[in-house]
Amino acid sequence: MEHLDGLISEALALTENVPHLISNLANVSALLYEKLPCINWVGFYIAEGKKLVLGPFQGRPACIEIEPGRGVCGTAVREGETQLVPDVHLFPGHIACDSASNSEIVVPLRVGGGIVGVLDLDSPWPGRFGEEDRAGLEAFAAIVEDMLERCP
Ligand code: SME
Repeated sequence: MEHLDGLISEALALTENVPHLISNLANVSALLYEKLPCINWVGFYIAEGKKLVLGPFQGRPACIEIEPGRGVCGTAVREGETQLVPDVHLFPGHIACDSASNSEIVVPLRVGGGIVGVLDLDSPWPGRFGEEDRAGLEAFAAIVEDMLERCP
């Protein structure tokens, strides 16, 4: 993904000495939203029990709770791998939070071997995300995993 190497350095600079999880997740979502082209929503869902609960994000207001295995986010947790969805309208059970969204990528976040949340990005462009984005965002997610571990 264009710019992602630079964004990893920027995210580290913004968060590495900050011991506040909500502040860090909020700043990271703002950074991705500002710098990545053609994104209409970016943010986090954090695991609480078996559900995912809305965390810091940028974009339109979104659904608060996602049941296990539901939608693209719940599927990423259940499958334990990134979900790259070129057309959300073809994804069974997709949860539409913003009718402008046409494609989506969801990366699971792991701490201590378990999934503790997801990083979710939506785009109005069909097919906005590709394999390069998957690799770039999985590398980016590693920084977020560090902050989740460091500031529980
Ligand atoms: N589309 C997601 C729900 C979250 S929103 O995209 C912000 C899903 O199907 O899990």
